Amino acid sequence: MFRQLKNCHNVDDLRLLAKQRLPGPIFHYIDGAADDEVTYRRNTSAFEDCDLVPNVLAGVENIDMSVTVMGQKLDLPIFCSPTALQRLFHHDGERAVAKAAEKFGTMFGVSALGTVTLKEIGDIISTPKLFQFYFHKDRGLNDAMVERAQAANFNALALTVDTITGGNRERDLYTGFTSPPKLTLKSLLSFAIHPGWALNYFFGEAFELAELKDFVQQGSNVSVSIGDYFANMLDQSMSWSDAEALKARWGGPFCLKGIMSVADAKKAVDIGADAIMISNHGGRQLDGSRSPFDQISEISDAVGDKIDVILDGGIRRGTHVLKAIAAGAKACSGGRMYLYSLAAAGQPGVEKALGNLKAEIQRDMKLLGVTSISQIDRNMLRYRTR
Ligand code: LAC
Repeated sequence: MFRQLKNCHNVDDLRLLAKQRLPGPIFHYIDGAADDEVTYRRNTSAFEDCDLVPNVLAGVENIDMSVTVMGQKLDLPIFCSPTALQRLFHHDGERAVAKAAEKFGTMFGVSALGTVTLKEIGDIISTPKLFQFYFHKDRGLNDAMVERAQAANFNALALTVDTITGGNRERDLYTGFTSPPKLTLKSLLSFAIHPGWALNYFFGEAFELAELKDFVQQGSNVSVSIGDYFANMLDQSMSWSDAEALKARWGGPFCLKGIMSVADAKKAVDIGADAIMISNHGGRQLDGSRSPFDQISEISDAVGDKIDVILDGGIRRGTHVLKAIAAGAKACSGGRMYLYSLAAAGQPGVEKALGNLKAEIQRDMKLLGVTSISQIDRNMLRYRTR
């Protein structure tokens, strides 16, 4: 069946549209995860091990979906996680996601491996912006990225802590995916059968990693796998004191992305972080690690009154967001939930993805019998297997 955007009613539909439009190696880079992809699958299936218990006759004609995280008021309880290489997926890349996020009044996370400058994103949207930071060996690059995010008026900074080396992404090994893509006989064939994508990529604006290109060639004009980038460019000695120093240097709302244990959540509180994203990097790093939803309640019980706890990953439905909030998350975030739609159709695609989720959250809150996010609590959740 040939799919169209208007018939995409959920993330799975948008995924199939993205698969239709993208050359195989690029689709599988987005869609794939580490080793056997067990954690990746569990990130979503975990939501099916519990059920919501609704209340009725609650007067639900007006619904307020807003939340406040990292000091930013968002109109939706879900925001766009930072994800790399977006102009590889659609020629508008981060510009499309930024504008769609602005339309929905939610936050946009821009990756250190982004393909549009922070300055441009700062110029085109006025809604909350999060800059995702990778701690590189090159301290000059680290300093420059912080300064540029400050100059572009980013509202918060998230240090990613789960990419100390590259995850084993076997789909990328099979397809030979690199950034930028290597021109081999196999990849040229896959570009030829996706001419819409290939014409934009080869004849449009040149691909670059906007914040890195002045410091490193890898990833911008020297092809490298993402695993090799993490393993070779990032500083494996990164420690809690580096995180604390980065927070001080940044000076604004500070988040750690990729926290999974209660012990680390407590350390995040100790260094004065404002937020933690409970995340396993979309299952792309340590396969076999627990899913954010399985882990959210114990973390929020331990630190939820001291720090914003965000559930990142696995969200495909409005009910997933509501379950995460019932379990203790202050808000949710996700990558693939909007990336497929970016690849499928650019800004209108991302608007479709966010619009679908917004409509679901609104409908589901009415059916659950709540009018604001703060009314959702653990009493509304029952685990089947505990
Ligand atoms: C990835 C990085 C770049 O997961 O965030 O591919």
